Amino acid sequence: MKFVIGNWKMNGSRALLREMIQKMRDIKSENRAVLCVPFTMLDEKNDVVALGAQDVSTHERGAYTGEISASMLAEVGAKYVIVGHSERRMYHDETNDIVRDKATRALENGITPIICVGETMDEKRAGKTFDIITAAVRESVPSDVKDTIIIAYEPRWAIGAGITPTTAEIAEAHRVIADTLAYMGLDGTPILYGASVNSGNVGEITAIEHVDGVLVGGASLKPDEFVSIIHSAK
Ligand code: 13P
Repeated sequence: MKFVIGNWKMNGSRALLREMIQKMRDIKSENRAVLCVPFTMLDEKNDVVALGAQDVSTHERGAYTGEISASMLAEVGAKYVIVGHSERRMYHDETNDIVRDKATRALENGITPIICVGETMDEKRAGKTFDIITAAVRESVPSDVKDTIIIAYEPRWAIGAGITPTTAEIAEAHRVIADTLAYMGLDGTPILYGASVNSGNVGEITAIEHVDGVLVGGASLKPDEFVSIIHSAK
């Protein structure tokens, strides 16, 4: 079983979500599909695909205008939430500490956090990839985790760029993350790859050791393409 998780970012519509759900009805695959949609679509009830959010507040409740708490996500049925996506880290200055608090709130409310880590092109060029992702895993994962968490390795320079790291680069990054998780007593935690995944490259990517699935951006907005990715993840 591989995870195939779509991240719609600030795209899509309820009409597209309904079309996607229709297309996904006939899927014959043991892979687990999830769609992380905008907050406003999370209440779309269906028996085909689990829905998740793309962010959550660090706070439980209170005077935080515009924020959404983990208990509110749980109330509308969200099963997953992406935390620390590179776009949140980049545009909203989210640090590993903030990401850890968000993941903690999710776990407290029975929601599986999908914790994103990844290096920038500058960090890659400076040879810091493994330091960055090791620190991000150690600092962004809550202590004393008892329920499932998911880690997503998303090299920031490859997101939306139509380019992917080499198979060897993905394998090395995932091995480093797996070793870090094992050191933390969290071996077996699923590790997903994300950035420029499509139906053409998903088979090769998911065949790499320690790649337990994919986090898909742009290609998850095209129903036929997303269904094909779910079928092709091996
Ligand atoms: P793309 O698949 O569009 O590169 O986006 C990846 C991503 O950010 C998923 O979270």
